[in-house]
Amino acid sequence: MNGLDPHAYVEDPSPGTGRLRPRAAFTSDLPVIGLDGDWRFRLASGLDDLTGDLAAPDFDDSDWDLLAVPSCWQMTGLPGEPRYGAPAYTNIRYPFPVDPPRVPGQNPTGEYRRAFEVPDGFPAAAAVLRFEGIDSAFAVWLNGVRLGDGKGSRLTTEFDVSAALRPGRNVLAVRVHQWSSGSYLEDQDMWWLSGIFRSVSVAARGVEDFFVHAAYDHTTGRGTLAVDVTAPTPVWLSVPELGITAADPAGPHMVDGVEPWSDENPCLYSGELVSEAGERIPLRIGFRTVAVVDGVLTANGRPISLRGVNRHEWHPLTGRTLTEDTMVADVLLMKQHNINAVRTSHYPPDHRFLDLCDEHGLWVFCEGDLETHGFEPGGWRRNPSDDPAWREAYLDRAARLVERDKNHPSVIVWSLGNESGTGANLAAAAACIRHRDDSRLIHYEGDWASCSYVDLYSRMYIGLDELAAAGRRQEPPTADPADDAHRRSLPVVLCEYGHAMGNGPGGLSEYQEVIEAHPRLVGGFIWEWLDHGILRRTGPDDHRSFYAYGGDFGEEVHDGNFVADGLLFPDRTPSPGLVEYKKVIEPVRIRIDPAARRMAVHNLHHVRHSGYLDFRWTVEDGGEPVGSGSLAVPATAPGATSTVEWPADLTAALDSARKDGPGHEVWLTVTAVLATDETWAGAGHEVAWGQGLIVPASSPGPSTPVAATAHDGYLALGAARFDARSGLLVRLADLELDGPRLDVWRAPTDNDLLGAFAEPQIKSWLAAGLDRMRHEVLRVAPDESGLTVTARLAAAGSSSGLDVVYRWTACDGPGGDGIRLRLDTTVTPDGAWPVPLPRLGVAMSLTGTDAEVEWFGPGPGEAYRDSRAAARVGRYRSAVSAMQTPYVRPQENGNRHHVRHARITLPAGTLLINGDPVIDLTVRPWSTAALTAAAHQHELVPGGRLHLHLDQAHHGLGSAACGPGPSAPSVLAAVPTAFGVEFSTNW
Ligand code: GAL
Repeated sequence: MNGLDPHAYVEDPSPGTGRLRPRAAFTSDLPVIGLDGDWRFRLASGLDDLTGDLAAPDFDDSDWDLLAVPSCWQMTGLPGEPRYGAPAYTNIRYPFPVDPPRVPGQNPTGEYRRAFEVPDGFPAAAAVLRFEGIDSAFAVWLNGVRLGDGKGSRLTTEFDVSAALRPGRNVLAVRVHQWSSGSYLEDQDMWWLSGIFRSVSVAARGVEDFFVHAAYDHTTGRGTLAVDVTAPTPVWLSVPELGITAADPAGPHMVDGVEPWSDENPCLYSGELVSEAGERIPLRIGFRTVAVVDGVLTANGRPISLRGVNRHEWHPLTGRTLTEDTMVADVLLMKQHNINAVRTSHYPPDHRFLDLCDEHGLWVFCEGDLETHGFEPGGWRRNPSDDPAWREAYLDRAARLVERDKNHPSVIVWSLGNESGTGANLAAAAACIRHRDDSRLIHYEGDWASCSYVDLYSRMYIGLDELAAAGRRQEPPTADPADDAHRRSLPVVLCEYGHAMGNGPGGLSEYQEVIEAHPRLVGGFIWEWLDHGILRRTGPDDHRSFYAYGGDFGEEVHDGNFVADGLLFPDRTPSPGLVEYKKVIEPVRIRIDPAARRMAVHNLHHVRHSGYLDFRWTVEDGGEPVGSGSLAVPATAPGATSTVEWPADLTAALDSARKDGPGHEVWLTVTAVLATDETWAGAGHEVAWGQGLIVPASSPGPSTPVAATAHDGYLALGAARFDARSGLLVRLADLELDGPRLDVWRAPTDNDLLGAFAEPQIKSWLAAGLDRMRHEVLRVAPDESGLTVTARLAAAGSSSGLDVVYRWTACDGPGGDGIRLRLDTTVTPDGAWPVPLPRLGVAMSLTGTDAEVEWFGPGPGEAYRDSRAAARVGRYRSAVSAMQTPYVRPQENGNRHHVRHARITLPAGTLLINGDPVIDLTVRPWSTAALTAAAHQHELVPGGRLHLHLDQAHHGLGSAACGPGPSAPSVLAAVPTAFGVEFSTNW
């Protein structure tokens, strides 16, 4: 690097040259020339392959490709083959040697050109060229004049073009480098992608900038409005709804009786700035004040609880280039799932996303474009965060974050960035932010030990005990008592928890319980919102598609499917984890007390009364509705609980519900739905629900056992046939079967396979041979009242085993046909069993590729012992194919928890299953081995048999891929266990 090198800026840590001072993102009625659309494009392999006269206005680029701007160039060509380079995924590691600020010479560089017309009358004399996002560094020329260069991929950069812009034809040339010194500051856990990935425009500039300060005093109900304007001419402020028309926008203007802004009531007042030159700038003003009071985070004088998610910007075909529709979809889905907060991990989002947060109501932790995590493996040696050479870059990123987004009421916290160690540059960035905007709090998780420059004690992935200790202000002390005292005066936020990778996270209810028990705990943000899978086709002539993850583009270093760890699948379909989260964080809790014939409605809102909800009841007997109606619930104030006696029509419905007949349970379900349309969902949208068991099932009456009889090669017991040697059930009436056998293995979940903070569970499972257990039948003994099969499940080389006794009995059904078959399984661990079991149950298979399953029990989605809050008892029907949850990397899924009875309908007949009283049920068209072996969904192909698992229990899911494993109550220990299940083909 030297002063003569025209490309020195690429590796120079400085943030850029020639740029304008950062300012707020806003629109006005001054003209704008949008430059999104097709640009000429050429991908150079490195700095030695550049086009010499790229910037020359008359350069002939007609044989160059056309590339859409905005876009990430590696995503071009998908779902087929990427046309320019390829996406690459790493979590922590840089995909190049760590030698800051140097980057690889093989530095793919996109050369972009675009001619555009400036209409007559366009105020070119005060125009700016605006780039909203370019990854990672660039230089720009207009009509051959070099305007400057910049870095900071997810931040806006503007250049003054007043000298270079002319009426008529103009030519813009931009050189974008995949790697730059900036890449060292942008090591977020995501795909490495490059290009002009957000919009480009040329805009006339009048008012330069403004800063809306709109505070709310909850003691007086008064709002204070002050708009600091930077403009070449005088500017007036008008907010008609508040009666403000002022020549001094900075006022301050006091307004009595304003509605404050909050997530639940995102009240925005429309206003306008009007300059003497005639420019009009629309404003949307939200009054709100955030503060820490006695270690509790408050907004507008009341404590708030964050039920949030970390959101990356992602689309499976366009990467980090999003349409507004996609942003709207994210915000609406969040609101519809009771989410009230979002951390913009780990960079400022497209600014339009924040407009949506203002409008629909989401608290925002707005995060800077900063992560240097790849220095951690080297012990943080040469970490930019503590190196004066990078100070300017840090301050620049902080300033551009705050300046761009400062006018959003939804933004309550500035977050410096993520996982960048600690150091003077972070402290300096925090000081600059505080100086510029002391109305918001500052967050940075890396400063958790001393909290010397932040306002929140932020942690990620801590366990329940540590969280509860923090709630009590008893988190582990550090070496410095003064630090401890300071930290303990701050609210606690989980900036990341509940790692939603694959099947999980488990334990969300437990976290929520702890959070709600301690005012110091602000709540937190699930990691993360969306799986970043990339849609790909399996081959040029093959139109099957799948979601690619790390390694699928031949990366030299990568982190596999760690990039698929969201609550939404890549196509934004909610995963079971999101459905669970919605239930766990519902803002109104309905508790039914069957004994007292009443219910309680607890309002957990911050400011909203429950009056916006309609309450409805349904009574179901064995899953069949027998009555429904509405419930009058008094408008319940935030924080309050109302008790509601059951109305007469509900009591009548319950009294008339059937109470006899085995297997019938009567359930009351109460739902709270939107009474009228909200901006984020229509009337009738369900917000919360509660269920109560009113009449439990009665047990079946006595029955007469039938004797087992021996035949040529088989044993018969009622309608069942068993292989005489293996004792396995091979037929039940017309159904051919294989099994059942004791089974303890499941296709490992991501949480089973990975262990961010402890040894992965899979290690001890494999060491114990749980994936290769052999089922040895020891004895098959028919008798007068049934059949006993004795077996042992054990792994080669292991002296420990599970002794199992299968006791089969058949009972005469009403027609004396002996087709109610019962299996009692008794499992006795023998030898040492220090490891938990993945599952404990029996497995069998039948001929078929799909079937209809109807069950009575919790549903409709999958549920596991530590992720079952969202499953409600009812009668459900589904095709087997629809019962499979398509985790990006296939793994254990689809368990229906605590099923009372199920009916599986196949072409060959019907199999009925009865739990005693409950059984976990999984039905899938492929084996556990095939599920374990598949790396992507399209590799799973029905094999001609339906595999049935009837489990007494599963090991919990936990969140060990990045966080704690299942908590003690969800650990499936190998202990003596007995469970029963009944089969039939007709009752
Ligand atoms: C955190 C990090 C996130 C993500 C997560 C694991 O440490 O802040 O960006 O990498 O772990 O998915």
